[in-house]
Amino acid sequence: MEFFDYFSDLYGERWPGLLEALKGEGRAMELRFGDGLEPYYLDEASYFAAKVLDARPGMDVLDMCAAPGGKSLVIASMLQGQGSLQSNDRSPDRRLRLTHVLQNSLPAAWLEIIKVTGYDGMKFGLHKKESYDRILLDAPCSSDRHVLNSPAHLEVWSAKRVKRLSVEQGALLASAVDALRPGGVLVYGTCALSPLENDKVVEKILKKRPAMHVVPIDDVPPGADRTEFGVHVLPDTSEGRGPIYCAKLAKN
Ligand SMILES: C[S@@+](CC[C@H](N)C(=O)[O-])C[C@H]1O[C@@H](n2cnc3c(N)ncnc32)[C@H](O)[C@@H]1O
Repeated sequence: MEFFDYFSDLYGERWPGLLEALKGEGRAMELRFGDGLEPYYLDEASYFAAKVLDARPGMDVLDMCAAPGGKSLVIASMLQGQGSLQSNDRSPDRRLRLTHVLQNSLPAAWLEIIKVTGYDGMKFGLHKKESYDRILLDAPCSSDRHVLNSPAHLEVWSAKRVKRLSVEQGALLASAVDALRPGGVLVYGTCALSPLENDKVVEKILKKRPAMHVVPIDDVPPGADRTEFGVHVLPDTSEGRGPIYCAKLAKN
């Protein structure tokens, strides 16, 4: 099957172990922000990617592809009700879930600064030029762990789709870069296994937007791989966490 051949070629001797780990249990943590509020369970690698953004109270933050909302919860906890958080997602159904997650899991004082919107992420660069101190682009991706565990998705998986997604990710990243204030920081992330959706997307934007540079990421989860531009957390070496790729970029 195409999926298995593609990743076997890519990961070589590592693939059988990685495949087993991808089929296994993930490593979730509980987020709970107060008595009487609903807990939310998030992969530890996703928590790490959101923390990399380093949002601080008072900042204007955009979570460009935010549903169902796990990383928006982490960002809200960093802002502590000061500044602003725009949690955006284009899909109406997923946005509904996002709104419920935020309302059920966050204290009222933190909710006051959060706005849920439904714009196409591609438009931010044009309509919200240099407007945010921090942007998280947790991009739509092949979601390979999910694909592997879903026969219907495995059926429609193709190398062509990976390429198509990487073009879409590049366009969303260009939009995010243009919406970032000078001096601002952006985190690009996916849960994909292929470098085409990860480092290659970052490599292209660094060529297209010379004002951007890579910021080193400290405190990575145990067993995470360092790649040319970012960090890839994979479940075979990181105790079941991930897959999560993230790269941190700053604007001069
Ligand atoms: C990987 S998921 C985000 C997960 C989320 N950050 C979290 O931690 O819960 C990607 C999201 O991007 C949204 N999306 C896809 N294309 C988009 C676009 N052009 N503009 C805005 N959102 C988009 C999808 O609806 C999906 O919810």
